[in-house]
Amino acid sequence: MTAPFSWLRPWEAPEVTSWGRLPMCAVDRRRQAVVLDGEWRFQLLPSPETAVSDAWGSSYVPGAWTLQDTDDLPQYTNVRMPFPEFPPHVPAANPTGVYERAVDVPGEWAGRRIVLQVGAAESVLLVEVDGRPVGISKDSHLAAEFELTDVVRPGSPARVRLTVVKWSDASHIEDQDQWWHGGITRSVLLYATDPLHLADVTVRARRDGDLRVDCAVRGPLPDGWYVTGDLDGQFLAQDAEFDRANAEDERVSGFLGEARLRATVPGVRTWTAETPELYGLTVRLHRPDGTVADTSHHRVGFRDVEIVGRDLLINGERVFIRGVNRHDFHPLTGRTVSYDDMRADLVLLKRFGFNAIRTAHYPNDPALYDLADELGFYVVDEADIESHDHAHEIADDPRYLNAFVDRVSRMVLRDKNHPSVIIWSLGNESDYGANHDAAAGWVRRHDPTRPVQYEGAAKRGWADPDVASDIACPMYAPIEECVAHALSGKQTKPLIQCEYSHAMGNSNGTLADHWAAIEATPGLQGGFIWEFWDHGILQRVSDGRPAGRAGAGLYERGVAAPGHRWAYGGDFGEVPHDGAFIADGVVLPDRTPKPVLYEHREIAAPVRLQCLRHEGVVIGNHQHFRGLDWLTGEWRLSLADGRTLTAPAELPDLRPGETAAVPLPFELPEGGGEAWLTLRVTTARDEPWAPAGTVVCLPQVRLRATPVQRTLPVADRTVEVDADGLLVHPLLVAAPTLSLWRAPTDNDELGGMAGRWRDWGLDAPVRELVAVRRAGSSVGVLAEYVCAAGVVRHEQVFTAVEGGIRVEESAELPETLNDVARVGSVFETVAGPTLLEWFGQGPWESYPDRSTGAPVGHHSLPVDELFTPYLRPQESGGRHGVRHFTLSAPDATGLAVELARPSQISVNRYRAADLAAAAHHDELRPRAGCVVHIDAAHRGLGTASCGPDTSPAYLVPTGTHRWGWVLRVL
Ligand code: GAL
Ligand code: MG
Repeated sequence: MTAPFSWLRPWEAPEVTSWGRLPMCAVDRRRQAVVLDGEWRFQLLPSPETAVSDAWGSSYVPGAWTLQDTDDLPQYTNVRMPFPEFPPHVPAANPTGVYERAVDVPGEWAGRRIVLQVGAAESVLLVEVDGRPVGISKDSHLAAEFELTDVVRPGSPARVRLTVVKWSDASHIEDQDQWWHGGITRSVLLYATDPLHLADVTVRARRDGDLRVDCAVRGPLPDGWYVTGDLDGQFLAQDAEFDRANAEDERVSGFLGEARLRATVPGVRTWTAETPELYGLTVRLHRPDGTVADTSHHRVGFRDVEIVGRDLLINGERVFIRGVNRHDFHPLTGRTVSYDDMRADLVLLKRFGFNAIRTAHYPNDPALYDLADELGFYVVDEADIESHDHAHEIADDPRYLNAFVDRVSRMVLRDKNHPSVIIWSLGNESDYGANHDAAAGWVRRHDPTRPVQYEGAAKRGWADPDVASDIACPMYAPIEECVAHALSGKQTKPLIQCEYSHAMGNSNGTLADHWAAIEATPGLQGGFIWEFWDHGILQRVSDGRPAGRAGAGLYERGVAAPGHRWAYGGDFGEVPHDGAFIADGVVLPDRTPKPVLYEHREIAAPVRLQCLRHEGVVIGNHQHFRGLDWLTGEWRLSLADGRTLTAPAELPDLRPGETAAVPLPFELPEGGGEAWLTLRVTTARDEPWAPAGTVVCLPQVRLRATPVQRTLPVADRTVEVDADGLLVHPLLVAAPTLSLWRAPTDNDELGGMAGRWRDWGLDAPVRELVAVRRAGSSVGVLAEYVCAAGVVRHEQVFTAVEGGIRVEESAELPETLNDVARVGSVFETVAGPTLLEWFGQGPWESYPDRSTGAPVGHHSLPVDELFTPYLRPQESGGRHGVRHFTLSAPDATGLAVELARPSQISVNRYRAADLAAAAHHDELRPRAGCVVHIDAAHRGLGTASCGPDTSPAYLVPTGTHRWGWVLRVL
């Protein structure tokens, strides 16, 4: 450690936000820089006060050392800090990484201004060059730049040392719900500019084509120097009025160094998330002889953001915000994410109907905003401030005032030119205090073109005009509360939830109900699902270490390769930790979509269908800005008898919000039972985020309701049951018994249901046979399932019918068991069946309160693909509204089941108890046969791990449940 730093102890000095750091700006130097990424000499010290030794290893930059085979491993905590010290203090044991390398400073940079940029370092960065202290920076998710002109000699190598102290006063305001890491997590760059250079460029581009570009040179602009700009080759005029005023005012003209360019673009193509039209802006600083001293490139989107009344308008339109919260995350590299990975995240979000991102909870990698501009997303850009554990103490602590204003202002200075950024967020979960108001004040003055939001302020009153939030942006507010606010007559601000529908494990029940309310209620405009990623880190089981970059390719379709698993809190032996709460995204750690994404895609469908009885169907354009010409369609008619008819669909020419009636594409065939018409909507041509032919939505209407009633004649056989009254059947290794329980989902666990179920004894009721009655071809079996909280009488009547066995069941749920997981039958087949084919909702997983996106049709999937490998094993793989199914082996043997009514079923390789007993997938041993559940009722999933439980309509009622099915051998 270098003396000046250890004397200052900047890691326990919140007032010190930086030293020697250049101001943030929106001029991007990535293109002209020398990239210093790669292996650096590295040593990890136990504290910043320990002397650097000769024991160097190496570490890859950018990357967290916590993922690179050091003894300092990742730790996950949600609210609580990982150490007990009160802000601004930190523990004495404070891992400190020292990175060092020789950097060749090009000889041709002589006479130029040389700048070092460190993309991101957490949480304190100390910079030395050739032993001389150069700078300090905090703010772990924004770049820090230091001028090295006077420290290095072009043509000679310089020794750059970057010391990164893990714990600091700043950790207390970086207490986001995520893994704790240490390291340099974004690229390190070195670049040179002319001593006189473009210090900043501020672009304002409005939807009427008005363009203003303010260029700061910062420093006296010597005589004859000038700035020009062009927009896609069109020259931009100087602001003559400004120039004149400048010239008249001697105090200003000499040192202001500003140039203002103005233009009005006729017939401008406006930017929206649906139509991300960008123009290329180039700004040049010229020497008196016309040569170019500096250039800055920008992409400009012409658009307006405004709040009118209680509506947030984009280009005058009240748009729905179909958002997600996204962390910078990768299962191998933590917070270091490549351009390709970010692009893949955003492409996937586009394909699943999202149009907005909240950069929870810090400014993301700069490339993310470029991609959001280009692919079309509305971004809520959030400052790196979360003091969750000490929220109350810090929000008004003047020692942290600098840090708040610094972090918010630096984010705004960096990202102000992105059309995608429509709202600034002051941070997350940091209570509300004067430090927030100070930051908000800075933003409102500096950038009056965008609203400011902050959940902690909005919480003081959704309509309160005096708090630092222009948006009512609650988290996890129940639907009814949002609707009530919108109907109260008191709403003054747009209501857009900053977090809702918590995606932990098998979750997101009632998402469609949220959206039904949002679309039907003026004043409600959407929200951001919590969250995009399951932050599982790929871990070697053998030594418990993160796989790191060597883990590339060691996972597929959400499943870690043998010998590996997805680690969550506690898996690195860390104390304290908050377990699987880190796995709460709509994608698995390798970006495999969870089934909720299909639900979301349909909820966000740009094309909607309505049934006009026999006359036809109504097609609606549900977008805000686009016609339907980018889409194409195909009709599918699914009949219960197994037929699927298809026909090309002609999408009408509809403007946003318009509808048109079209005749039925098919004559409804006689017979065939219930009939479902689906419009398979795909991209007509390549979109930047989807090749032509990508499914966009699958809206569906039911054309005929009558299910096929098959009454099978009773056969002249008997059905065999054993001494316990259990069905004996050659295809079953476990006879159908009553099931009231499921392997608790994360919602069930954290919402308290699972504990109640265990107290009630639902997981292992004692079955007591009461009576067996035989009558002709039928056997009736009455049993009691004795739980700690009550007795459930269960009756099964097995009747031999032509080709199979009819099973009629009933269960009487006492009042004491008023919220069970399910009521239904479970059985287990012999080994052999590998394919499930069904008529019902699908093909992806669906549950009673998450089934809007699963159209009814004929579906088939291998048994092993039915199951979703949620990080912590839990109830998974359900299919809703199933009418009949077959379960077959490759040689076509197997069984078929016809259900008396559409039911929830599941088929997988695990008993509920197998899943409930495992903490990770590598502990599970699949059974040879299939475990089949047929449910008369199945509890909704809700989102109770954080937020509302499911609605009462999706609970399993007490009283008598009846269900029936026919089992046949194929
Ligand atoms: C919110 C918080 C998020 C995350 C989420 C639960 O309260 O803002 O960071 O913790 O809850 O997963
Ligand atoms: Mg938090």
